[in-house]
Amino acid sequence: MDFEIKYKDARGRVGTLKTPHGIIKTPALMPVIHPGKQTLPVSDYGAEVVITNAYLIYKNEDLREKALTEGVHKLIDFPGPIVTDSGSFQLSEYGDVQVSNREIVKFQEKIGTDIGTSLDIPTPPSVKRERAERELVITLKRAQEALEVREELMLNSVVQGSTYPDLRSECAQKLGKMDFQVHPIGAVVPLMESYRYQELVEVVMSSVTHLPDSRPRHLMGAGHPMIFALAVAMGCDLFDSAAYILYAEDDRLLMPHGTLKLENLYEMPCSCEVCTSYTPEELRQIDKEKRTELLAIHNLRVSFAEMRLIRQAIVEGSLWELVEQRCRAHPFLLEALRSLKNYSVDLEKYDPPYKKSAFFYTGPESLNRPEVYRHLERMKRIPFSKSVLLLPRSSKPYSERLYEVPQKFYSIGDVVENPLGDMQVTVVDVPFGIIPLELDQVYPLAQNESPDDYDEDSIKMVNGVLQEYLQGFSQIIVSEGVAETFGLTVNDEYIFPEPLKIMVNDHKRIKMIADYQFGTGAGEGLFNEEVKIVKSRKTGKIRHVYDGDELIATLRASDGVFVMAKEGARRLHRYLPYPKNRVVVNEDAEPFAREGKSIFAKFVINCDIDIHAKEEVLIVNEQDQLLAFGKSILNGREILDFNTGQAVKTRKGGL
Ligand code: GUN
Ligand code: ZN
Repeated sequence: MDFEIKYKDARGRVGTLKTPHGIIKTPALMPVIHPGKQTLPVSDYGAEVVITNAYLIYKNEDLREKALTEGVHKLIDFPGPIVTDSGSFQLSEYGDVQVSNREIVKFQEKIGTDIGTSLDIPTPPSVKRERAERELVITLKRAQEALEVREELMLNSVVQGSTYPDLRSECAQKLGKMDFQVHPIGAVVPLMESYRYQELVEVVMSSVTHLPDSRPRHLMGAGHPMIFALAVAMGCDLFDSAAYILYAEDDRLLMPHGTLKLENLYEMPCSCEVCTSYTPEELRQIDKEKRTELLAIHNLRVSFAEMRLIRQAIVEGSLWELVEQRCRAHPFLLEALRSLKNYSVDLEKYDPPYKKSAFFYTGPESLNRPEVYRHLERMKRIPFSKSVLLLPRSSKPYSERLYEVPQKFYSIGDVVENPLGDMQVTVVDVPFGIIPLELDQVYPLAQNESPDDYDEDSIKMVNGVLQEYLQGFSQIIVSEGVAETFGLTVNDEYIFPEPLKIMVNDHKRIKMIADYQFGTGAGEGLFNEEVKIVKSRKTGKIRHVYDGDELIATLRASDGVFVMAKEGARRLHRYLPYPKNRVVVNEDAEPFAREGKSIFAKFVINCDIDIHAKEEVLIVNEQDQLLAFGKSILNGREILDFNTGQAVKTRKGGL
């Protein structure tokens, strides 16, 4: 299998898929080509891969002969990768097809398809369970049969199961164990046509969570750009569009936020060659055939532009922001976005903890993003002190702005005797809830923006977070603003004897960051009391931590987390119990790892399943000897599942 992931965001992946006729950059959109009818050269408008229908070719004598003698690439005049569908869609539309599964799989192999499809049964949404189960048995049987028939052909195997999440999961799991190259998710067209996006989320999530991470997934029949970002964020890699031509035939223009009717246009809505060369009136006057072609060109341009934007968003780590924008275009998409909160635990495992772009709060839905869930989970890694002081937000990073705060506060519970000492100072803010001052520069606690006037959902959420957090402290002091804003019940006034100057202790800071980043106690394991902290002369921020002359770790300025040096890796290795933060490589890879070469997934024999992409990881051999350390490109599950591409970018070997 030649699929590789290069960048990740949410459950989305930017990657490459190798086929006999070239490499596909994913996520990718495959325009649907009608064999025999197609005149529009889709590659001129950005298509690197197309999909056509093997059944339509098979059924037509002329097309069949030409395809069998000259190949499908000649037939549709496209030199790049071609995916073919099997006639299942015709089966769902007309109830019958005149070809067997074996026959159509063999035929696809003969005509030189790059990726073929077995004759699955597209069970529609909301059918009786008995029917969904019955048809699933046939779909699975045909998938198995396709494997027996094919020789070299790369094969799609479509996940079915109607709108029953458990059937989708079961189907995905079973197909995932067989030797297929791509997994389409089928029979979702009716859901999309009727705007049932929330159910689409359920179908897609129950499928992708049970498919192998190492294979691309194709959301079949999804051709409207308004759904691309959401689908990619759920882990879909391939899309096909008949929409570009069907909408054009119907005088409609695809846009990333919906559809426009030519008859309603006063202005052309984009900057493609069609929209900049014609006025709406001119287009309306052109004859039907030419007009359809022009609108199809616009539709393709817009669809490919959206796909490029999505790939860019994944690379820079702003896919959630794009998804939130797109899902505000339709109330049912918004409903779908909201339902993603049911999948926080799963999404958190795939979403990289460190990103190039800041977290933008764009509405209450942002509260359900994996970053927020992850932060609250990681806060549990931090030991409590006796007392806590809650402060309201100020400008970021908070510790640089809070040197002096007023004397008057409130207490919750007993009035506090001298709470200073090891008092924990925590800022209360939206969307992350609680931010210990020591962590105020760690991504995304510094790298986020949200409006100053908190909305009701945010207040409710933070109130819930506080109720839990405050249980850990015996003495609680809150500023008036925090108590009022977040509805905390206070006991009494508390006056600090002197104006409060808050200084963050550097040693406490580095330990807390390490605990937050690697787990409880990692700070203790990495940094004893004797370590030397070196700050940047320019910014005054912590840069390096040394043990004498030996560098332990560097605090990365961009996201405020530790990057190991050799000594840091050794200490982590000593401190963290196997297999925590480990990537275990086989004997063959050992010398390469020691030399500091990057680690390919195929050499990994075990790893910590909880590793996220972009984390600092230890590279060890089977005896758990430390060989090297580096930064993960994939998460633990992906590292184990993949046999192609890089798993870890090694920082240093020779340990
Ligand atoms: N095209 C749209 N939906 C489907 C499906 O469920 N199966 C196949 N094979 N093709 C499709
Ligand atoms: Zn346009």
